[in-house]
Amino acid sequence: MTQTKDGTNTVTLTDNRTGKQVTMPILDGKVGPSVIDIRKLYAETGCFTYDPGFTSTGSCESQITYIDGDEGVLLHRGYSIDELAAQSTFPEVCFLLLNGHLPTAAESTEFDSILRRHSMVHEQLTKFYTGFRRDAHPMAIMCGVVGALSAFYHDSTDINDPVERKIAAHRLIAKMPTIAAMAYKYSVGQPFMYPRNDLSYAENFLYMTFGTPCEPYKVNPVLAKAMDKIFILHADHEQNASTSTVRLAGSSGANPFACIAAGIASLWGPAHGGANEAVLKMLEEIGSVDRIPECVRRAKDKNDNFRLMGFGHRVYKNYDPRAQVMRQACHEVLGELGIKDEPLLDIAMELERIALTDEYFIEKKLYPNVDFYSGIILKAMGFPTSMFTVLFALARTVGWISQWKEMIEDPVQKIGRPRQLYTGETKRTFVPLAERG
Ligand code: SDX
Repeated sequence: MTQTKDGTNTVTLTDNRTGKQVTMPILDGKVGPSVIDIRKLYAETGCFTYDPGFTSTGSCESQITYIDGDEGVLLHRGYSIDELAAQSTFPEVCFLLLNGHLPTAAESTEFDSILRRHSMVHEQLTKFYTGFRRDAHPMAIMCGVVGALSAFYHDSTDINDPVERKIAAHRLIAKMPTIAAMAYKYSVGQPFMYPRNDLSYAENFLYMTFGTPCEPYKVNPVLAKAMDKIFILHADHEQNASTSTVRLAGSSGANPFACIAAGIASLWGPAHGGANEAVLKMLEEIGSVDRIPECVRRAKDKNDNFRLMGFGHRVYKNYDPRAQVMRQACHEVLGELGIKDEPLLDIAMELERIALTDEYFIEKKLYPNVDFYSGIILKAMGFPTSMFTVLFALARTVGWISQWKEMIEDPVQKIGRPRQLYTGETKRTFVPLAERG
C-alpha cells in the first residue's frame, strides 16, 4: 500500500504475465472496512474481479445501516439496534431509516398519521386474492399482490420525482400490514378486516390478522409491543441478498413496487428470510432434547446437506445482536401468554447451548441469527409458520425502500451489470440435425 501526493492511500497490483502495474485508490468509510476502488481495473488490466457471493465486495456507498460482524454490532443511522428495540417504535425507526434522523414530536405525529391514512388498499386489489388457491403459500401471494401495486398507483412510479418516491415509500410501508393480514385471512377463509386509524401500526396489523367482523377484538398491548419490537429487529440489514436484489432491480429504473416484489422473492429463500419458517420445522423435526446430538452431528457432516437453520451468518461471526433481543422477547411473550413449558423453546435453548460449546460451531463462528428465536414467538402469538417470512418481508419493506431511495438519489448510481469468468465452449460451427448422427 502506498500514498499519492494528496495523501490518498493506494494499492498496486502487478500482473506477473506482463509486469504491468495498476494502482487503485483506497476509500475510507466513516467506520468499518475501507474499500479498494477498482472501477478502472478492467479498463487498465483487461481483467474482472472474481467474487461469487460477493464475500469481499462492496456494491455501493450507504449511510443507512452499519454492521460489525466480529463485534456483533448493528447500527441504524448510528443508533444501536438494542437501544432502538428497547426505546423506539417501528414507525419511528421507519422515519429514521427513510430520513436519516429521529423524528421530532411534530414529525412523528405527522408520519404516524400518514401511515394510518395510507393503510387501506385499492378495493380492486382484494380481487387478486380470489385468484389464488386457499392453500397458496402466503409469500407467493405477497410476491403477486405487491408487484401488482404498480398497476394501481401510477401517480407514484416516476422514480425521478422525489415527491412520487416519497409517496411510494409511504404507501408501501403503510400497506404491507394490510396486504399481509389479507394473505392470512384468505388462507383461513375469513373475511378481510379493514385497517383502523385509531390503532398503532403493530396493533392494526394484529387486529387485521386476528380480529373478525363478528365481535370486538381487543389487541393485547404486550403482544403489540412485541410485534413492534420484532418489526424493528427486521427493518434493515445493510446489503443482504434481498436488499441487493431491490437495488439491482431499481438500478434499471424499475418502479418501486416491482423492486419490492423482487426483494420479497429473494427473501423467501431458506438461506435468507425463509430461515425462520425452516427453523420451526427443524425444531419440530428434532422433536425432543435428546435428539439434539444427532442433529448437531448431521449439521457437521459434509456429506449431509442438513444445516442448523437459524445458525450462521455471512457477516456476523459473533452473536447476532437481534437474536439476543429476540430471545428476551420470546420469554416475555411466552410469559404474557402463560405458556410455561414450550418444548420448542426448550429444544432451541438446549440446541443453542450445545452448538455454542461445540468445536465445529466455534471454529466456524456459527451463532444463532435473527431467525433462530423469532419463529417461537410468532407461533406463540398464533401465526402459522407459513406467515413467518411474510412478517419478515412486512418489516423489511422500510429497509428495502430506504436503500432503493438512497440508490436512486446517489449521483454515481448506474445500472448494475456484473461480468463473469467464462469457462464454456469457445466458438464452434453449427451442425445441422441430419449431420449429427
Ligand atoms: C438472514 O445477509 C443478511 O444480513 C441476512 C439477514 C438479514 O437480516 O437480511 O441477516 C437475514 O438471512 C439470516 C440467515 C438465515 N439463514 C439461516 O439461518 C440458514 C442457515 N445458515 C446458513 O445457510 C449460512 O450460515 C448462511 C447462508 C446464513 C451464510 O452462509 P455463508 O456466509 O455463505 O457461509 P457458508 O455457507 O460458506 O458457511 C461457512 C461454513 C461452511 O462450512 P465449510 O464449507 O467452510 O466447511 O459454515 C458452515 C458451512 O457448511 N455452515 C453451517 C451452517 N452455516 C454455515 N454448518 C451447519 N449449520 C449451519 N447453519
